Amino acid sequence: MEQNRIPKHIAIIMDGNGRWAKKRFMPRTVGHKEGSETLKKIVTHCTKIGVKFLTVYAFSTENWKRSSTEVDALMLLFKLYLEKEKKTFMENDIRFMISGSRENISATLLKSMDSLIEETKENKTLTLNIAFNYGGRKEIVDGINKIISSGIKYITEEEMGGFLYNDIPDPELLIRTGGEFRISNFLLWQMAYSEICISDKLWPDFGVEDLDLAIEEYLSRDRRYGGVKDVE
Ligand code: FPP
Repeated sequence: MEQNRIPKHIAIIMDGNGRWAKKRFMPRTVGHKEGSETLKKIVTHCTKIGVKFLTVYAFSTENWKRSSTEVDALMLLFKLYLEKEKKTFMENDIRFMISGSRENISATLLKSMDSLIEETKENKTLTLNIAFNYGGRKEIVDGINKIISSGIKYITEEEMGGFLYNDIPDPELLIRTGGEFRISNFLLWQMAYSEICISDKLWPDFGVEDLDLAIEEYLSRDRRYGGVKDVE
């Protein structure tokens, strides 16, 4: 792959865990557990190929509508993931970040998130940004409220990033697994010019070779940002 054109920031909607489990007559939570194993492989691969930021959608503000069994399982899985992956993050120079609201998240989970953010803050090879309790509209509204309460009367597009959950570069590439063509309230502000690749693979089946394929597809796209390439 052309190393210097690898997208700096990749965002992923990790969809299809439930369907993966259903196909195997297993509870949806088994699909999420398998999905967390896929995430580990993808994160390690990103450190090797030169991706600098990876944002993954792990729990949306709409996911609270799921059964309490599924919500509790996702909360527990996330907590275990943070505890177990700390070693990997330190060994592979991975910085950990969260994009999302702190509302309704338990104090113990908040503590685990905060300490991992603090412990990995000097790591530089890859920033793993987990969108957890995240909604794109809520992120923008929370940002606007921060602006109002700080008394600022006017901001520019460039300054808006500073009022979002994390001020990191916009993703050049969005990958959605599970074959659906939807944004699902993900990174609404940041995705203005992202290239979108949809994979039919369910997230637990998504492999590093599928990530490479999506990057190849991205590299073949003609990105014009609303302009024209060859002016006659
Ligand atoms: C969407 O699949 C996936 C989620 C709502 C959760 C994503 C969580 C993980 C990949 C694993 C845990 C993550 C961490 C960070 C430990 P779905 O359940 O909507 O699948 P479906 O469309 O097939 O029903």
